[in-house]
Amino acid sequence: MEIKKMMVIGAGQMGSGIAQAAAQAGYSIVLNDIKPEFVQKGLDNIAKNLARGVEKGRMTEADKQAVLGRIKSSTSLEDARDVDLAIEATVENMAVKGKIFADLDRIAPPHAILATNTSSLPITEIGAATRRPEKVIGMHFFNPVPVMKLVEVIRGLATSDEVLKIIVELSRKLGKEPVEINDFPGFAANRILLPMINEAVYAVYEGVGAPQAIDQVMKLGMNHPMGPLELADLIGLDTCLAILEVLHAGFGDKYRPCPLLRKYVKAGWLGRKTGRGFYDYSNGGAK
Ligand code: 3HC
Repeated sequence: MEIKKMMVIGAGQMGSGIAQAAAQAGYSIVLNDIKPEFVQKGLDNIAKNLARGVEKGRMTEADKQAVLGRIKSSTSLEDARDVDLAIEATVENMAVKGKIFADLDRIAPPHAILATNTSSLPITEIGAATRRPEKVIGMHFFNPVPVMKLVEVIRGLATSDEVLKIIVELSRKLGKEPVEINDFPGFAANRILLPMINEAVYAVYEGVGAPQAIDQVMKLGMNHPMGPLELADLIGLDTCLAILEVLHAGFGDKYRPCPLLRKYVKAGWLGRKTGRGFYDYSNGGAK
């Protein structure tokens, strides 16, 4: 089967990034969210990224308009009725994802593949919310999606070889490097990344150093492009906590989320997206 038309559900930073990558690769995309203003925010984000590409001479204004023209807005899942692939990129909540997958299963044509960009939730369980678990697969992108090369491709217990092959090939067509990973809590990337972020939060919590100092240590000492706390702010502290909860439930105590992370999430300090996390972004940049 050839993928021609796709839908991305969730127009946040991941969903809009996936839509941008797909539209730039020539695919027609439906970008869906529950409210028109959420879809518009995603489209504005894509337009801003493309405008930077025009400024830097990587694409023409006409290319930018053509990419934007391939993205159609949607606030109804019924728009999945003629897609070949739906990629879900909503919140890390099994109840929400289960409902979306059950609806997509009812609406999308029988041949359609249903993929999820979940950061840590079991693909097998998401597949079980549908009557087509053999067509359900994990397609885990990395933030910022237009820049990061990796896609973790995760098969659930029932995912077919054919679906795996189609998604591996599609990931390459989107300009990404697919890596096949098995269905374990946090897959591979977040199982390794989140304990580092959690430990950085513990280092702040216990007074080892200020956030700036902890980040400097990892950037200057380990050559990381961003410090773990800056990166946590980019990912979203609510998403970091949700992933750690899955790792904690799956593997036990060594993944216990730091109380300071819970406190920040309770305070609504979710990182860049709310203007405050370990850093203050009220002036548009890290302080
Ligand atoms: N969207 C689109 N493009 C972006 C971007 C964004 N949000 N942020 C940066 N870019 C582009 C810039 O336009 C620039 O492109 P150009 O050089 O071709 O013009 C390029 O990225 C480099 O940007 P900058 O020069 O401004 O800044 P840096 O060199 O510091 O790079 C970075 C920025 C790529 C974000 C780099 O700091 C980095 O790699 N950080 C680590 C990111 C990371 O680890 N991501 C994974 C997170 S984990 C995850 O997503 C999984 C989830 O499940 C939690």
